[in-house]
Amino acid sequence: MGTQVYVWDRFVRFFHWSLVAAFTLAWLSAEENDTVHSMAGYAVIGLVLARLGWGLVGTRHARFADFVRGPRAVKRYLLSLAGRPEHHVGHNPAGGWMVVALLATLLLTTATGVVVYGYEGHGPLATTLAPALAPARAAGVAESAAERTARRRAEHRWEEVHEFAANLTLVLVGLHVAGVVVASRLHRENLVRAMLNGYKRGGATARDEV
Ligand code: HEM
Ligand code: HEM
Repeated sequence: MGTQVYVWDRFVRFFHWSLVAAFTLAWLSAEENDTVHSMAGYAVIGLVLARLGWGLVGTRHARFADFVRGPRAVKRYLLSLAGRPEHHVGHNPAGGWMVVALLATLLLTTATGVVVYGYEGHGPLATTLAPALAPARAAGVAESAAERTARRRAEHRWEEVHEFAANLTLVLVGLHVAGVVVASRLHRENLVRAMLNGYKRGGATARDEV
């Protein structure tokens, strides 16, 4: 078994499982309920922004500097999987980039969601967007047909980007969970349990990097 090391602090664990819940809720409510959908989406924004801050000032393995590695480290790690898998106490170099990719697509998804919501006249961008998108309506006069068409087109385009970003995130989540399962098998340790209780296997082999 080797020694157990405390790796994922309370914030990281809270962040992770709250994110899973908020993301799932946002996904399931997407075509059902705009209020639930936007609330779940705002929760995702809050969690991701907090995680970005924690990535700078948080505990050792939570910091980006600990797990965002160059292409050489990623290549070496991936090549090692064919033989004796390199063990990392924090995120492995491939997993580290998956974390960055997930945070980035989550930001893209939620930011574009807020724009779509603004076009619909709701949320923080509603008042800022309204005059630019529909000047006549904002001024209290009737919207021309051309204006309405342009507004609907623009809204539709943002909706497409939002949906694409959400689908891309879902694909990454699939790869992420598959990566967790594969890495758990290769390293013979339960990574899901580690994200629940915070503990991972410590340096037990010569190639371990703590
Ligand atoms: C039930 C499905 C999921 C399981 C079992 C799972 C499991 C895990 C595990 C074990 C880790 C730690 C990986 C490591 O040891 O390096 C992790 C990290 C992470 N997961 Fe998941 N995950 C799931 C769903 C999700 C979803 C839906 C998202 C985002 C939408 C997500 C985003 C992340 C992020 C951002 C991290 C990095 C955590 C941090 O450093 O703060 N996961 N996940
Ligand atoms: C990670 C978080 C989010 C996910 C996974 C997500 C996912 C989706 C998906 C898949 C759709 C397309 C539904 C369809 O087929 O029509 C959608 C639509 C939409 N989303 Fe999000 N979204 C998220 C966050 C947000 C946020 C933060 C907002 C705004 C506050 C938002 C506002 C909207 C709006 C207004 C629509 C159009 C709904 C409609 O009227 O048809 N979303 N979202």
